[in-house]
Amino acid sequence: MKTLILYFSMSGYTERVAERIRNGILEKTGHCDLMAMADADIRSIAEYDLVGLGCPVYYYKEPFNVSDFIEGLPHLKDKHWFVFCTHGSVMGTTLVSMSEKLKKKGVVVVGHFHVYADATAPFFPYPVPTSGHPDPLEYEQAEDFGRDIIERSERIAQGEVNLIPSTDPVPEQWVQLAGMLTREALSQMFPPLRFDLEKCTSCHECEDACPAGGIDVEADPPRIQSPCIYCYQCPMICPALAIDADWDTVDSSFGDSLFAMYLQELEQAEARGEFRRYVDPSTIDLQDSQLMQRRRKLEGHEEEK
Ligand SMILES: Cc1cc2nc3c(=O)[nH]c(=O)nc-3n(C[C@H](O)[C@H](O)[C@H](O)COP(=O)(O)O)c2cc1C
Repeated sequence: MKTLILYFSMSGYTERVAERIRNGILEKTGHCDLMAMADADIRSIAEYDLVGLGCPVYYYKEPFNVSDFIEGLPHLKDKHWFVFCTHGSVMGTTLVSMSEKLKKKGVVVVGHFHVYADATAPFFPYPVPTSGHPDPLEYEQAEDFGRDIIERSERIAQGEVNLIPSTDPVPEQWVQLAGMLTREALSQMFPPLRFDLEKCTSCHECEDACPAGGIDVEADPPRIQSPCIYCYQCPMICPALAIDADWDTVDSSFGDSLFAMYLQELEQAEARGEFRRYVDPSTIDLQDSQLMQRRRKLEGHEEEK
């Protein structure tokens, strides 16, 4: 069976999970290509019998570059795909949303997998309640998933269509938030990113790292927002702290109420045995974002946490 795993991963967790799934597949078939989604040649995807697509959860769903990628796929009648994601406290609609989009392309979604991960949004504090994940057990589960998906795909191909899994229902509040946080809404909600030309050294690190190709440092003035997937990695990457936004304009009370809901979700997942806690949430300072921590560190006010 010709198998390919594609992933989008900004901070490396999804990539590491993809590697573990691949290990499981290799044990069964001895072959599985692994590639960043951005490097995939869409024309050759139809040559694969089974394709996995993985990503982080952004704003309770798959990131915009991943939905754009799926929309751009050709019709792939009856091809088998599986989807997976890594996330902080709330996965939202991600697996359902990716599966539905793939089904519209004629794909049969034969499996899905998700794990908690150390959340990396720059406007979150650090650590987060899911820091320490994926843990060794979750990495083992990823390998098991890889072993299992091969057998499942083969049996579905032989007619055991009852093995095609359905996704768990998503609580209404996360469906609503995922639907609400469109590109347009995020552009209104978050302050625009701006370049400090006096600090910028034209090193191009932000441009190279931008998953949407949305930055052009040489443009006059530098272009930073279009297209944008709102990952906010560029201010975290810039070694000169030349990219920033006016974060004080964001209403922090919204974040506080969401955080309380995240903790509730995690408590429920813990009770179901699906989550293990490595961080005491009462030690998390919600006002101290990763961006602020990085700024203090680079300005020499603090040792790295
Ligand atoms: C912009 C942004 C938005 C995020 N939104 C969510 C979210 O809605 N729910 C969630 O559980 N995690 C969220 N996260 C956390 C990521 O899903 C998590 O850190 C992921 O494992 C990162 O994967 P990567 O290392 O492969 O990039 C968000 C992270 C970023 C950067």
